[in-house]
Amino acid sequence: MSTPRFVLNLTRLAELYSLYTKLGSVYYPMKANDHFAVVDHLAKLGSSFEIDSIAHLRMLLGRGVPASRVLFSLPVDTHANREKAVALGVRFFTVDSIEEFRVIRELSPHSRFLLRVSISDALGSRSRPLEKWGCNLAELPTIVREMREACVGASLYLPSEVYGLDSLTRCVKAITGRLPATTFKILDIGGGLDTPGSDKLREAVETYRRETGVSKIIVEPGRNLVGPSMKLYVTVTARRSRFGRDWLYVDCGIYSGLLDCVLKDRVFEVSLVGQEQEAATQAFVLAGPTSDSSDILGTCELPDSIVAGDVLCVADSGAYTYSVRTCFYRSRAPTVKVVKGADEVDNH
Ligand SMILES: Cc1ncc(COP(=O)(O)O)c(C=O)c1O
Repeated sequence: MSTPRFVLNLTRLAELYSLYTKLGSVYYPMKANDHFAVVDHLAKLGSSFEIDSIAHLRMLLGRGVPASRVLFSLPVDTHANREKAVALGVRFFTVDSIEEFRVIRELSPHSRFLLRVSISDALGSRSRPLEKWGCNLAELPTIVREMREACVGASLYLPSEVYGLDSLTRCVKAITGRLPATTFKILDIGGGLDTPGSDKLREAVETYRRETGVSKIIVEPGRNLVGPSMKLYVTVTARRSRFGRDWLYVDCGIYSGLLDCVLKDRVFEVSLVGQEQEAATQAFVLAGPTSDSSDILGTCELPDSIVAGDVLCVADSGAYTYSVRTCFYRSRAPTVKVVKGADEVDNH
């Protein structure tokens, strides 16, 4: 098998998408994985798209997705980009300050807006990543008063590091009652949402719908929609013993997509392909191919018979991998193979 290679399973993507549609209208965040096959399949299934960039907007339009299915949600973007978004037909924006609303309103008097609320404020928890986006709860009524009917609802996003159903519920409760009923038609609960099929989540979302009185819930699942829909196959290029530890060097590292290993201390599930898993396993340190000593993917348990040339499978690796690969070292980016149904590795 030629590696490194992603295998995207469209059947799995459709199954997960279908679970998310039971919660609300899906606006897929394109940053999670912008491979054309992901975008085309979700568009065919009826998804809308949450985007942060003009490049993604152009890609969607070029692939036949109308601007009416787009939510442009990068608060604090440049004026030039806002102008382009409006010129290309976007009429639905997320903003988190009155200044930004005024600018876009000037460009496009008939656009609709979601007001992003600070989760730092709602959770009563201070940290830079939580404080980066969202207007404070205290300023919400004043902003909404000025936005009037242009504001159609509120939006929030709990990053996976802080996501939990209780936290999500606390955030929704913090907003409830602060927006007038005439304004609060849409509640966008963002991404995170780790268990799309769970009854608890569905019940919680129904409660949000009832208690806020909104007519539409938006969900923006990235990591848990496209993540499990893709696997990454890599080849062991060398095995070495160093300072009492066994190391496996593979042909894909943090710079070719597995950046989450260092950014989020993510531990991917890794298995040996094409052989029965043996009883005898041992811990290996897995390292990427570049000479950068930070290019380390973590520790994993694998059969101790493993040798150079063996192929490993990195499960649940479709989110923030393909789309964050870098050109460092000009190394070969993983290719993408698209399959349906059971993704038999021998067929790749
Ligand atoms: C506004 C917004 N929505 C949705 C997402 C997707 O989140 P996740 O991939 O955790 O589901 C992100 C991720 O950064 C985001 O910033």
